[in-house]
Amino acid sequence: MTLKRPSWLRRRFLKLSALGATSLLFAAHTRSAENSNFNPTPEQTEGPFFPNSSQKDMDLDLTYIQGHDKRAEGQFIKVSGRIVDQYGVPVKQALIDVWQANSFGKYHHERDLRRVKVDENFQGWGTVQTDDNGFYHFRSVKPGPYPADGKWMRPPHIHFKVAKRGYRELTTQMYFLRNR
Ligand SMILES: [Fe+2]
Repeated sequence: MTLKRPSWLRRRFLKLSALGATSLLFAAHTRSAENSNFNPTPEQTEGPFFPNSSQKDMDLDLTYIQGHDKRAEGQFIKVSGRIVDQYGVPVKQALIDVWQANSFGKYHHERDLRRVKVDENFQGWGTVQTDDNGFYHFRSVKPGPYPADGKWMRPPHIHFKVAKRGYRELTTQMYFLRNR
C-alpha cells in the first residue's frame, strides 16, 4: 500500500534570479523549505494591472508589436535570468508572465485611468518560457515610475508570475536602482 502525500508536500518551489542591464539580482522563491540551499525570493503582490485581456503579440520582445512601424519609446533593456528550485536545480519550460508600465509610467490596462501618455508601440506584457537550463530573457524598455497613493512614487519595476505544473506559483517584482 502506498500513501499519497499531501499535495503541498509534493510541490517544489521556484526560485528566480534576474540579471539585466541594471545588474539587478533578485532572489525569487516562495517560502523556505527544509534542506533548502537558497534563500527564498520574496513574493509580492501582482497589483491591479495584471494582464486581463488578450493581445495578438505576446512574445518576449516588448519593445515591438507585430505589424507596427515603430518601436516603443524609452530606454531599451534586456532582462535575463534563471529559474531554479530551492535546491538550485534549473526549472526548464517554466512559464513566465511579465508585465510593466511603459516608459512614461502608464500601464496598458483598462484600470489605469491616469492621464499619462500611452505608448501604442509598447507591448505591455509578454510570456516567456525557460530553456532546458532554466534560463530566460526578454527585451523591454525601462518602465517609468508611477504614483502609489499620491504621497510617493513607486520605483520603476517589472512584475513576474512564474508557473510550472508541480511547483508552487511565484508572483514577484523586480526593481531598478535609482539613476540607472
Ligand atoms: Fe506595478
